[in-house]
Amino acid sequence: MKVLMVCLGNICRSPLAQGILESKVNTNDVFVDSAGTSGWHNGKLADSRSIAVADKNGLDITNQRSRKFVVEDFDSFDLIYAMDKSNLRDILSLARSQEDIAKVKLILNEISIDNKDVPDPYYGEGDGFIKVYNMLDEACEIIASKIN
Ligand code: 4NP
Repeated sequence: MKVLMVCLGNICRSPLAQGILESKVNTNDVFVDSAGTSGWHNGKLADSRSIAVADKNGLDITNQRSRKFVVEDFDSFDLIYAMDKSNLRDILSLARSQEDIAKVKLILNEISIDNKDVPDPYYGEGDGFIKVYNMLDEACEIIASKIN
């Protein structure tokens, strides 16, 4: 099973989603990666605030580097999770088939199907990252229970 987490910059939300899901699955069987729809931060470490909240929760995400989502990701991954509806639209705009479309989900719909966004914490206060962490932890627990 291969799972891709996608946000806008691939420096705040999706690196956390990747690290959290990796911590909950057997990584011999499940490959987890993340990407951004923008490519604005290509090659960069995760945001220091994401690295800090991960570290507080015992996760090291400093191995990750930002990269842009590419259409070939539809071939490489079984499940593609968008952090918000804008990311979802951007990913779906690249889909080539119903099979591609079927792989893409809004991550918080794993908790309840009401199309909630993981709020973009980039321009906000520090505690936005804690809220994002907790939402992603809850969603990834459910994802892990389904794919483990
Ligand atoms: P992310 O957050 O999509 O969760 O990585 C953002 C990171 C950077 C920017 C926006 C959102 N930016 O505008 O550079």
